Amino acid sequence: MTDWSTYERRINDAKGPADLDAIDQELFGRKNGTLTTALKELGSLPEAERRTKAQELNEWKKKLTGAIDIRRKELASPSDDTLKKSDTIDSTLELPGKCRGHLHPIPEFIRQVEEVFGRMGFDVAYGPEIESEENNFNKLNIPETHPARDTQDTFWIKGVQNTVLRTHTSPVQIRYMQERKPPFRMICPGKTYRKDADATHSPMFHQFEGLMIGKDVSLANLKAVLITAMRELIGRDVDFRFRTGFFPFVEPGLELDMLWKGDLKESREGKWLEMGGCGMVHPNVLKNVGIDPAQWQGFAFGFGIERPLMIKHRIPDLRSFYEGDPRFLRQF
Ligand code: PHE
Repeated sequence: MTDWSTYERRINDAKGPADLDAIDQELFGRKNGTLTTALKELGSLPEAERRTKAQELNEWKKKLTGAIDIRRKELASPSDDTLKKSDTIDSTLELPGKCRGHLHPIPEFIRQVEEVFGRMGFDVAYGPEIESEENNFNKLNIPETHPARDTQDTFWIKGVQNTVLRTHTSPVQIRYMQERKPPFRMICPGKTYRKDADATHSPMFHQFEGLMIGKDVSLANLKAVLITAMRELIGRDVDFRFRTGFFPFVEPGLELDMLWKGDLKESREGKWLEMGGCGMVHPNVLKNVGIDPAQWQGFAFGFGIERPLMIKHRIPDLRSFYEGDPRFLRQF
């Protein structure tokens, strides 16, 4: 009786294709392959025995041809010890890092602002950066001769009358209120422009405006909304300070400061940085957009985006945001 399993072992141990061919021939050779012969001899067996034997042999035939195929494939693909030395992989080497891009900290912050205020039921609105003098100043209770215009000196568009690069996102309040009926809650992030340039000012910077109008929206609501949102955006441990401040479009008006912390080179540490203005929307502004100030009231705020980010990430100079220096950007 042939022990077919020895063939199986030999197939699996075959060292190369030539070995395998020899075993193949030995088993399945037409004339005297062992399995071929065994199959041929079936005919001389008694009926009952023939059946079981035939079944057994056919199973082995299948198994052994399968094993030959598998081993042939294995031998065709290089195994570890057939690899050339120069092809070996040093798994301790560091792979070149995949250079994946990411959002710049400013648009990233804008998304967070929209998300955080969105959860508090604020709608997101946008307005044009080229704005009418009417929306940017007049309707916000800043007439032509008002000294408040001095602090928002800006770029006027040549050849187009009464048109400016908006100095704040507040004109979006006007646009928003003119198109809708209160109550509403709105947030508006965007670019703004002024004639300023130093470590904490840039001629182009970003702000986000907020507006909430209802029947009994109060200054307490303003403080609660702002503190909750800013803590979420900047960090639980930021310190705030509200001061009275003047903006013609709110009454009363406040400014919100945040405390610089950490080890800033220029040692701004321990100093307060103004984040923006806020207050209760001035009745004149409500009248200017056709809302009855005897029925409706609410708050508005307008904050810089670069400044809270400077505090959050301890950035001493706001101009780093715009230089596009990868050494700066890679840190976020
Ligand atoms: N628009 C003001 C500024 O840019 C900030 C502000 C907005 C103040 C809304 C009060 C209410 O300085």
